[in-house]
Amino acid sequence: MSEATVPVLILKEGASRTRGRDAQRNNILAAKIVTETIRTTLGPQGMDKMLVSGMGDVVITNDGATIMKELDVQHPAAKMLVEVAKSQDNEVGDGTTTAVVLAGELLTKAEKLLDQEVHPTVIVEGYKKASEKALEILQDLAIDIQPDDEKMLKLVAVTAMGTKSLSESKEHFATLATKAVMQVMEERDGKTVVDIDRVKVVKKKGESLEQSELVRGIVVDKEISHPQMPKQVKNARIALLNAKLEIEKTEFDAKININSPDQMKQFLDEEEMMLRDMTDKVEKSGANVIFCEKGIDDLALHFLAKKNIMAVKNVSSGDMEKLAKATGGTILASTKDVAADALGEAKLVEEVKIGDDKLVYVRDCKDPRAVTVMIRGGSDHVVDEAERSFHDALCVVRNAVEDRKVVAGGGAPEAETAKQLREYAVKVGGREQLAIEAYAEALETIPLTIAENAGLDPIDIMVEIRSKHAEPGNKWFGVQVKTGKIADMLAENIIEPLRVKQQVIKSATEAASMLLRIDDVVSSKGTKESGPPGGGMPGGMGGMPPGMM
Ligand SMILES: Nc1ncnc2c1ncn2[C@@H]1O[C@H](COP(=O)(O)OP(=O)(O)OP(=O)(O)O)[C@@H](O)[C@H]1O
Ligand SMILES: [Mg+2]
Repeated sequence: MSEATVPVLILKEGASRTRGRDAQRNNILAAKIVTETIRTTLGPQGMDKMLVSGMGDVVITNDGATIMKELDVQHPAAKMLVEVAKSQDNEVGDGTTTAVVLAGELLTKAEKLLDQEVHPTVIVEGYKKASEKALEILQDLAIDIQPDDEKMLKLVAVTAMGTKSLSESKEHFATLATKAVMQVMEERDGKTVVDIDRVKVVKKKGESLEQSELVRGIVVDKEISHPQMPKQVKNARIALLNAKLEIEKTEFDAKININSPDQMKQFLDEEEMMLRDMTDKVEKSGANVIFCEKGIDDLALHFLAKKNIMAVKNVSSGDMEKLAKATGGTILASTKDVAADALGEAKLVEEVKIGDDKLVYVRDCKDPRAVTVMIRGGSDHVVDEAERSFHDALCVVRNAVEDRKVVAGGGAPEAETAKQLREYAVKVGGREQLAIEAYAEALETIPLTIAENAGLDPIDIMVEIRSKHAEPGNKWFGVQVKTGKIADMLAENIIEPLRVKQQVIKSATEAASMLLRIDDVVSSKGTKESGPPGGGMPGGMGGMPPGMM
């Protein structure tokens, strides 16, 4: 046997592999490019993006999460930033742009450290320490509020809406968001909790944004099921049924032999009797409106119409649950259970025609635990963006109510945290100090980018902010975009929930660290040749523990 070398194939043919510094550089580059795309949307003067899908659908938005979702990026590292935006959006509903910008900046700063031969594990460790400290600093900075402080909550909503394109209507929407959240919040075990799913958002093109309204009840996107039924019921007593108002079909095939017209009539009469019985039960309970999750037989509808009872059939189960929460009624599994004490109440139930659609409004419920916000606006793009911004507003008010803690905005908390982090970095010392200082600098990109997007000189602004923060009592100084000057953002009423800022730190640090830990990218479908392997770091970091934080 010859000693000829037999190639050992480990990866499939066509697989590509990038290692060491190259892998890191590629990842950082991809992340930076994504960050560049979205950073111009940050802040009240941020621009919008128009995203056109492969199908030609157009989305115009300023919402970081939406942009990231629609971007449809290919690079794995870029995809991780999409994840940052997603997790930020799911957890707290706002601050997605900030989180992505911070993650991108943390990576840019890390690249410089890598160039100075600081090992990635040291950077990751430094970033971890910095983020933990930053969370502490933010916690100490935060201002306490009360969950019934409507004025403060509205400021939080106004700030979140103020960075979106429909900022002219921000006052109106902020009021809607605040009132909606305050209506559905609950005390549980001494804590205030808000389930924002209890705020149903319905959007319909037409009229203008200012015509958007809060309905103290539920708007059901269905029409009344029979033309002869009343279109409007005052002092409604509402039955919520999760049962068919139809004759049950047998589960097995059955044959009935009918031999005479009399028998036929008897059979039909029997059916009619059963339906009549069902509707009589409903009437007897005192109900004058029925919402039914299932179908209602035409004949039953006819009977109900004769009794002047309004009925809506095939209502979604989500709407049924919200109706129960709003009206105080109980969802019943059978018509037999319909009784006066299971009925819900509302001052008014009416069918309203909007454009070509008919909707049923259940209005003015007594202390509803679920409400609806009806969003109107001139075009589909406007209502869509309004819905997205309104979602942000709902989330920030919820965050503020649940945590009872807020901070000022305009880059002030980031600037203050950066300052205190630098003091901390000196105490830590060593190479990690460099990483912590880099983290502080990355945080400062937030006020810097807000300023830059507003056409201000970022360097001037940064110098001013730093010197302000160096003096005691100026912790809330940030960029006031409205005046183009730095100002005490608390006094300027730019308020954000603490939770958004905390989550920004968490998700950005996590993503940056995860990318920095990668020193080997193996892609099995790669068609391109891998770059020159391992620039100065030949597989040296293979033994790093997976996952972090
Ligand atoms: N009047 C203002 N002047 C300066 N900065 C402001 C003002 N109003 C809001 N900001 C700041 O703008 C930033 C938020 O901008 P924006 O809403 O565009 O991004 P985001 O919240 O990170 O992402 P998204 O809203 O897309 O999820 C916050 O730092 C906030 O404090
Ligand atoms: Mg925002």
